[in-house]
Amino acid sequence: MTLLFDTYQLGDITLGNRMVMAPMTRARSVDTVAGPHTAEYYRQRATAGLIVTEGTPISPEAQGYAYVPGIWSDVQVAGWRTVTDAVHIEGGRIFSQLWHVGRLSHRSLQPGRQQPVGASSVPADGGKTFAFNDDGTVGFVDVSAPRPLSTQEVDRVILDFSAAAANADDAGFDGIELHGANGYLFEQFLNPSTNTRTDRYGGSIRNRARLLLETVDCVSDKIGSSHVGIRLSPFSELFDMPSYPEAIDTYLHLASELSRREIAYVHLVDQLPAGSRVIDVDTLTGFRAEFPGTIILAGGMTRELADDLIDKNLIDLTAFGQPFISNPDLVDRIRYGWPLTPPDRDSYYGGGTAGYVDYPRYVPAGV
Ligand SMILES: Cc1cc2nc3c(=O)[nH]c(=O)nc-3n(C[C@H](O)[C@H](O)[C@H](O)COP(=O)(O)O)c2cc1C
Repeated sequence: MTLLFDTYQLGDITLGNRMVMAPMTRARSVDTVAGPHTAEYYRQRATAGLIVTEGTPISPEAQGYAYVPGIWSDVQVAGWRTVTDAVHIEGGRIFSQLWHVGRLSHRSLQPGRQQPVGASSVPADGGKTFAFNDDGTVGFVDVSAPRPLSTQEVDRVILDFSAAAANADDAGFDGIELHGANGYLFEQFLNPSTNTRTDRYGGSIRNRARLLLETVDCVSDKIGSSHVGIRLSPFSELFDMPSYPEAIDTYLHLASELSRREIAYVHLVDQLPAGSRVIDVDTLTGFRAEFPGTIILAGGMTRELADDLIDKNLIDLTAFGQPFISNPDLVDRIRYGWPLTPPDRDSYYGGGTAGYVDYPRYVPAGV
């Protein structure tokens, strides 16, 4: 029995199947506006039950990578409109992943070359980002030292998220996903190693989770909670963020609070630290007890694992990342057991159409 190809009701949206295209930064927008190639890239992949776009900065300050399309200006909204139209014409559904990188940025990406902002001044030891060198070329560089957001500035960041959500709505997205994973701003507030604050956003679990939950509330007021998803990466240990004793309780607190808010979904990503699963059956069972709503799981997923976890009612949808880069028709390839094309990692970030919109669909023998 496979459940992956069943339709799924996500709030008022019907998904054609339970395969989600995971958010993936591709850095193809030199002018920070999603252009025709980006529309074509997502159109090719519209058979996914749901697409979550690449991380999309909500403001100039939120940027952490060069050539990433944002969603704070009218021109950017118009660019995204061409993307959502292309996906909708194909019958697909698409959420915008709203992103603030916090401390994981570089001065060359910041307005006036200012310092990046974060929960605190704790730098990301060994953190690299795709930014501009002094000679104007682009490459991987060390992130710049951050400065802490003041309490008033935190309120402003929440409003930036809310404005970006309204822009996403104007651009025709079916909803938004807050990027609460992978060591970016929300996780910098959640994790006590990077959150050394003494105001209402620091200290207890409740305080460290406050930024995320206040943002969920503010964004939900704007576009409705059933159109708000969130991505989380419990136990990810990305960059120099260590695991911490209260991690389980932190994520269970979030699960229960997010459940009360009746959001569209929680999208858990397993970074497979040390190559093994940390979001295992036990973790999912605990999370599910607090969050009966829609759960998406990403990170090295297979059809078999997804079917098993859906069957056990531990997840509802599964997301695939890299396989969608090189297999625009991934849904059919998995459905019919067709071979997968391996991705070319060298063209993940930056560059032109090669490795972006030129991966062919599979043509079965005899057709
Ligand atoms: C090129 C690339 C870019 C990514 N960019 C993002 C991103 O913008 N936002 C995000 O939440 N995750 C991002 N990820 C992580 C993926 O969403 C996904 O969780 C990860 O690739 C694991 O899934 P997979 O094993 O199916 O590839 C990226 C991954 C890759 C390979």
